[in-house]
Amino acid sequence: MYQQHQFSCPIISGWGSISVLGDKIRELSCSRPLVVTDRGVKDAGVIDKVGGILREAGLEFTVYDGVRPDPSAEIVDEAVEAGLAFGCDIVIGVGGGSSMDTAKAATVRLSGYEGLTKDYVLAVPLKLETKVPVILVPTTTGTGSEVTRVAVISRPEFNVKWSVHLKNTTLAIVDPQFTVTLPRQETANTGLDALAHATEALTSKGADMYSDLFAVAAIRKIAEYLYRSWSEPENTDARTNMAVAANWAGLAFDCPMCHLPHAIGDAFGCHFHTEHGHSCSLGLAEGMRLVAPVVPEKMAIIAEAMGISLTGTETGEQLGDLVADWIYALMRKMEFVSLHSMGISREDVVACAKDVSVNHLASYCPVPITEETAAEVLGRLYDNYQ
Ligand SMILES: [Fe+2]
Repeated sequence: MYQQHQFSCPIISGWGSISVLGDKIRELSCSRPLVVTDRGVKDAGVIDKVGGILREAGLEFTVYDGVRPDPSAEIVDEAVEAGLAFGCDIVIGVGGGSSMDTAKAATVRLSGYEGLTKDYVLAVPLKLETKVPVILVPTTTGTGSEVTRVAVISRPEFNVKWSVHLKNTTLAIVDPQFTVTLPRQETANTGLDALAHATEALTSKGADMYSDLFAVAAIRKIAEYLYRSWSEPENTDARTNMAVAANWAGLAFDCPMCHLPHAIGDAFGCHFHTEHGHSCSLGLAEGMRLVAPVVPEKMAIIAEAMGISLTGTETGEQLGDLVADWIYALMRKMEFVSLHSMGISREDVVACAKDVSVNHLASYCPVPITEETAAEVLGRLYDNYQ
């Protein structure tokens, strides 16, 4: 059988790579950028730096800094209105997944699609051709959103997160200097999100040889550098390697898609308002344990990339246990916050089972996700990490 793999966009990476931003905007024949970000990123001084580069290039710009976690279609519309009022011809998303997803989704209406953003954020993502270019600059080491074509947007009126799928993003600039000030908890949450992207991509029903390549490389780097970047926040080598790892994990899951842990993450985000990286990481260990018996070769690859020594005689179940234990150990080392410690009850967690089973991401899981299966996994993840 043939496989087709499509990478989303060019990538410029390396310490200080943000300096090319002005030139790249000019190369695209654009001159009026809309910068989309959140207040935290702005307060950290990142937008001052980006703005300085735009000014140096002689570019007038406007900033929309109202992005919030799990951005809603209304937030995207606010960004669109800011862009329309300014007459922008390019969007620059600077921040974590929420800012980059808002920037991507804003290009839909800015490209002339009529109506409101909610008309394009649906349970089964539409694949849209957009004309307005978007440059994405991550400031966390997890989301990979800079190289994925999907923008995850909330529809609060239905208490769900759905997506828009863009056929075209334009450029990713991965500059690790912005990640050095990332607080410890966010370092853990976003780094584990990247680990989830890589391990879910590798075990997804849609995995191919190209996604496998990036997934394995990302897991190796995360195993080596995530804890180091958590324990030594100013270790530029660890931060640089995690920035690359998160980017590779994004490349890994863009085609095959994530599966059960991200379906669980979406449900937790909607019900408990936990942030994306936190939500998705909570289900990662049990997601791997569940699928290990049906993808034992893949689980052995994951275990080896994590640095777990194997005899080669392990069963799928044993491999799943080894990988799950490794993930929980890393979570404990980084003081990852449990649902139990947040005062969330086991019953409320298990009650997310229906939402998990109907999430479109669950269909990429190599094990069929019924409501009963989802309920079992949710109960286990609550009991095994407290
Ligand atoms: Fe994620």
